[in-house]
Amino acid sequence: MNKDENDVLILAIESSCDETAASVVKNGRYVLSNIISSQIDLHTLYGGVVPEIASRKHIENIDAVITEALKQADVTLDEIDAIGVTYGPGLVGALLVGLAEAKALAFATNKPLIGVHHIEGHISANYIEDVNFEPPYMALVVSGGHTNLVYVSDYGKYEIMGTTRDDAAGEAFDKVARVIGMGYPGGPKIEKAAREGNKDAIQFPHVFLEDGSYDFSFSGLKSAVLNYVNKMKMTGQEIVPVDIAASFQYAVVDVLVTKTIKAAKEKGITKIAMAGGVAANTALRDAMKAACEKNGFTLNIPSIILCTDNAAMIGSAAYYEYIAGRRDGLELNAVPNLKLGERI
Ligand code: KG4
Ligand code: ZN
Repeated sequence: MNKDENDVLILAIESSCDETAASVVKNGRYVLSNIISSQIDLHTLYGGVVPEIASRKHIENIDAVITEALKQADVTLDEIDAIGVTYGPGLVGALLVGLAEAKALAFATNKPLIGVHHIEGHISANYIEDVNFEPPYMALVVSGGHTNLVYVSDYGKYEIMGTTRDDAAGEAFDKVARVIGMGYPGGPKIEKAAREGNKDAIQFPHVFLEDGSYDFSFSGLKSAVLNYVNKMKMTGQEIVPVDIAASFQYAVVDVLVTKTIKAAKEKGITKIAMAGGVAANTALRDAMKAACEKNGFTLNIPSIILCTDNAAMIGSAAYYEYIAGRRDGLELNAVPNLKLGERI
């Protein structure tokens, strides 16, 4: 490819959960390739991600995924400026596969290695399609493992305003889907079913917690769904899964949107961004859009392929770490419970 003198090309690797992914990203904003090998079909057989299987599949796939990312980008390893890799949070065995590969590549080619926080990656997905999108903004991060309201004051500067006290939003989708027999992964299945259902059919709790808190709690809602299903079964009444899906989804979306708008107002900013797998949910996207329009806020949401796990978002985050001077040594280890903003 034609590379200008000032261009920075990052080869990024992501393997924290059940997608093996590699991408080449130019200057943090331009995706030259974005290869994702998903293991979802395999884990569906077991009703959720099986860590041992995830690690094994990452090992089997990672070389081919990286080769394809370089090929589609029309870039040689020589032309790459740095290797970015997710080093946490995530499943430790899964993270180690991507990290070992990144370290080997960095060592063999003598290129800088940059460890990236998975959630920083999700947030950075917002820089990709709208090349003018910049901090400061309020980010709602909703994935299988995380629910965070993050005030991003500058590139790489994060203030966590709220976090989940129990289940993450995506986890709640997955668990409720299991309760009503929809299988894994729950999010897309609940979304599809909810389209046919009535969101006002069942009054599930919309949990806002104490006044002024930006934290989230979804385990009570999950139990409420379970209790409802059990009660209906015990009293011989028919359950309507599409109504349960719609009412549950409404309870989650209402809380997420209300708290995001409140947090932005508290910080006096009018720019909102969304990130993570649950940000692929159309009901959430539409409700956030409506709330932002009502309040005169602007909203940025990555397209669905950049919301769920991918390596392009890691390449974008790695670029901003790269220009800020971050370099990691070969001693960099996987940190399964890495906190956002923490440097290990
Ligand atoms: O960000 P992600 O791909 O992986 C993690 O970092 O966890 O998020 C996966 C989560 C799963 O819980 C999945 O059910 C949820 O995102 N998800 C959705 C949708 N698509 C994926 N949740 C609701 N609606 C969707 N359309
Ligand atoms: Zn993720």
